[in-house]
Amino acid sequence: MINKTEKEDKAKNPATEKTADEIFKEFREISISEFFRKNRTQLGYSGKARNLTTIIHELVTNALDACEECEIFPEIEAKIERQDNEHYKFFCNDNAYGIPKEHIGDVFGKMLAGTKFHRNVQMRGQQGLGVSGVTMFCQMTTGKPIKVITKTKVECIEAKIMIDVSANKPIIVEEKNCELNLFTSTGTIIEGECKEAIYINNESGVFEYLRRTAIANPHAKITFTDTDGKNTVFERTGSEILKKPKEIKPHPRGINIDDLIRLSKRENISISSFLIHSLSRVTQDKINELRSMLGNELNFDKKANEMTWQDAEKIINAFKSIKFLAPSSEGLRTIGEENIKRALTAIVNPEILFVITRKPSVHSGGYAFQVECALCYGGNAGRRTSEGKVKSEIMRFANSVPLLFDNGECLITKAIYDIEWKKYEIKDFDNSPVTIFVNVVSTYIPYASAGKQSISYEEEIFKEVKYGLMDAGRNISGYISKKKNAETEKTRLKILKDYAMPCSDAVSILTAGSYDEIYVKFNKVIETKYKDIKNEDEEKEENTDMNKLNNSDNNSNNKSDSNSDNNSDNNSDNNSDNAYNNSNNNSNNS
Ligand SMILES: Nc1ncnc2c1ncn2[C@@H]1O[C@H](COP(=O)(O)OP(=O)(O)OP(=O)(O)O)[C@@H](O)[C@H]1O
Ligand SMILES: [Mg+2]
Repeated sequence: MINKTEKEDKAKNPATEKTADEIFKEFREISISEFFRKNRTQLGYSGKARNLTTIIHELVTNALDACEECEIFPEIEAKIERQDNEHYKFFCNDNAYGIPKEHIGDVFGKMLAGTKFHRNVQMRGQQGLGVSGVTMFCQMTTGKPIKVITKTKVECIEAKIMIDVSANKPIIVEEKNCELNLFTSTGTIIEGECKEAIYINNESGVFEYLRRTAIANPHAKITFTDTDGKNTVFERTGSEILKKPKEIKPHPRGINIDDLIRLSKRENISISSFLIHSLSRVTQDKINELRSMLGNELNFDKKANEMTWQDAEKIINAFKSIKFLAPSSEGLRTIGEENIKRALTAIVNPEILFVITRKPSVHSGGYAFQVECALCYGGNAGRRTSEGKVKSEIMRFANSVPLLFDNGECLITKAIYDIEWKKYEIKDFDNSPVTIFVNVVSTYIPYASAGKQSISYEEEIFKEVKYGLMDAGRNISGYISKKKNAETEKTRLKILKDYAMPCSDAVSILTAGSYDEIYVKFNKVIETKYKDIKNEDEEKEENTDMNKLNNSDNNSNNKSDSNSDNNSDNNSDNNSDNAYNNSNNNSNNS
């Protein structure tokens, strides 16, 4: 018993003190839309420049997901028009399957609604919040609805939608059949207006977002028209259509008790059949192992939906001592080493790059994941500051979606800074010509917030990112030290050549021998010792010949498009032709 002190009694004022009943008169439920209206920063709407990138990110990821579902090459057009100070219009068109009339309202006007959250498949979207968040932001800053024109194989509908925030329900402001012939087959056009935004062409701007989206999605053609009307086409560089995402069952290694119980509630079959049927890599042999471990402690013939917390706990503990095959990579869709190499060569243009794909693994919840990473060094790798200094650059991706914000909180950044780069000949990581590319693919990405811009710490993913980059680091260090040795040898050769004449002169005086003979011998000794090193003049000549050859190749391949001018505006897009040549020269190294 706690004794009331005199002091506590004095602190209470009977005149103003409220009863629990009075306080609980304020108790009420809030809708998810109400929550995000107040906490829009959690959806990524946390700054004028960031707001526009967030809108384009939500629309483009949906378009890419939709194209993948129907297995077509995505053709996406995004456009931003300035209306007034901090006031913009945006557009996004895709060529996917369209949205059926009865679902248009919920897609744009209801939060936590979609076709992805409940499926264990690898898609860019997960939460059912993205596009309704866009509607909400537009509504909050302009009071206007979002406009949609969408064509399915059945019909073409034009609609204007807002959100009834207190009910989290759509308000269909207008809906009619659209007669305009806007699509070659099916697709969706989304148009909206927002305020409290600024279009900036910087590292976290819309242009950079789309540039990185193009790197990670080589199968897509993305066109962007900026506020000056400049048109940039990120052409398709990959030749394969991505296959429809496949469902992956949870893996026994990472699943927890609550997950297992939740899954079992739907199953009216025996526990043993449920485990085989609902989890990946659980076979009859593994059930036999479980049976021998748990003996009489668990009845495996009991109905799965009668499984208790204690039963599930025993199974999960036993799983820890059983060896399971790693998850299959079947449902995980990586970008692919060749695609990453091609895209980074064309867009970053480094001197050398190494791409590493790690084996599939599992993170908590039993979700399969895989990491692919690349390390670019030299050439145009890294960022250039306005003072012309070179800084390292980190490109983070989750399921091929660029993560441009919340860098410091992200598992990928933490893993990168956990590596001792000095060991890999990169003495000052922050100020080195390095571009790091990391893509984490999974059926479930543990994002740090609903804004989906950083991955929260998961030990298994952290390790995979770190090991992948360390692997790439080992390759780079080999390359850098070879290069350094070659440079040292070259300097030595130059010094010896510079001294050949005065030394021959001195030796001829000391020995009374012929200067010419001594000089010839001197040079022979030097040439034999350094026969593999070409002198600078030879090298320059060779490079010029190489460039001529490359340029003629490129000219014949070059398709002229309006894009080239725009790309040259962007720092790292310069010399994309040379990039391919460099990679060809270096291809043995990777
Ligand atoms: N362009 C589109 N074409 C076809 N369907 C779409 C399109 N955009 C959205 N959808 C549908 O609307 C649903 C809701 O989209 P929304 O962006 O709100 O959520 P999500 O993509 O499922 O998840 P997240 O919140 O992570 O983005 C999607 O699940 C998808 O079924
Ligand atoms: Mg989405």
